Amino acid sequence: MSKLLLLLAFTSAFMVLSASAGNVVCYFASWTIYRPDNGKFTALDVDPNLCTHILYAFVGLREDGTVSVLDDWELTGLDEMNHLMSLKEQNPNLKIILSMGGWNEGSYKYSQVARNANTRAAMVQAVLDFIDLYGFDGFDLDWEYPCQRGGEDIDKANFVTLLGELKSALNAKGLILSAAVSGGIASCKLSYDIPGVSENLDMINVMVYDFHGAFESFVGHYAPLYASSLDVTDEQKTLNVAAGIQYWLDEGADPQKINIGLGTYGRGFSLADPNNSSLYAGTYGGSEAGPYTREMGVIGYNEICELDSDWDYTWDDEQQVPHIQNGNQWLGFDDQKSIQLKIEFANSKNLGGAMVWSLDTDDFRGLCGNGPYPILNTINQYLN
Ligand SMILES: *[C@@H]1O[C@H](CO)[C@@H](O)[C@H](O)[C@H]1NC(C)=O
Ligand SMILES: *[C@@H]1O[C@H](CO)[C@@H](O)[C@H](O)[C@H]1NC(C)=O
Repeated sequence: MSKLLLLLAFTSAFMVLSASAGNVVCYFASWTIYRPDNGKFTALDVDPNLCTHILYAFVGLREDGTVSVLDDWELTGLDEMNHLMSLKEQNPNLKIILSMGGWNEGSYKYSQVARNANTRAAMVQAVLDFIDLYGFDGFDLDWEYPCQRGGEDIDKANFVTLLGELKSALNAKGLILSAAVSGGIASCKLSYDIPGVSENLDMINVMVYDFHGAFESFVGHYAPLYASSLDVTDEQKTLNVAAGIQYWLDEGADPQKINIGLGTYGRGFSLADPNNSSLYAGTYGGSEAGPYTREMGVIGYNEICELDSDWDYTWDDEQQVPHIQNGNQWLGFDDQKSIQLKIEFANSKNLGGAMVWSLDTDDFRGLCGNGPYPILNTINQYLN
């Protein structure tokens, strides 16, 4: 009898532990398999014990509500979907989620499908069929964004209706529904009925990043935790992680459903005057492309950590984030220190966990001296 009691006590203690463990929601960006050299990232490079959820990004949507596979060669030709699913053999608690949308998908098709009951029903069925085919554990919708970029005002209500129909169909089969939502307050005001969105999602992944970047012509950090004293207008003061999360909370989102969005990357500029690298100093475009991500203005943490000692590191005490500079090149990013502070902020707000964009630009090979996945390990270490 005492053995049984001991077993029960042990089991319930373990259940409490696992129930209180925070979500670590990791995006797997399928196109990273084509990167060169040490930047190449495949499903078999994922560490299945550092994430509670892996979100396969992305599939697309057609105007009739059906699912479109954006890269069939990657998905089936290279057998990546089966490789991804095989990660569950190493971590049976791991949830693998199908993610639809993303920036490049635009908003128009989502707006069209969401406004009509028939196409909404077709989408729900197509999503369930696709999930069933590969054995996913849920669905993630990255519509960027309702009412914007080709959408219309009625999207705000239709988004909630669509989420509600997806959620009842998914939850009935034991599957979960999440969405990536904007962390910019002006954008949120346009796009979301926040109580309705919160009610109809199991997880809300708030993208509190990309506040600044090469789409502007002045220096700014892509994801400051707090405002700078150089932020003077009301809008400038809201373009940071703390303000974005606080907005979702103040508007009535369930804190336990919110995952704070974190980046394993940064955004950079070519300074107009190398002698002036202060916030809001002029720029003439994005920073030079990195060897793996190969895109001007964007840089992976794995590319930053491989840079030589010619770069000067600055910690911004107000914004609580780092940047580095070399000549006219300025890169704002997150390191282990700023990630720890963002996680501690999330803990202080009693959030459900963290979402990470994305696995492929952490130092996943451990080439920079802090072991594999330093960013993801920091998240796991500090998250309540
Ligand atoms: C930057 O400052 C240095 C030292 O004051 C000066 O020699 C250089 O000409 C300046 N560069 C530019 C682009 O103004
Ligand atoms: C740097 O640029 C900012 C923004 O244009 C300006 O306000 C500031 O005076 C400049 N600082 C220097 C040292 O030139």
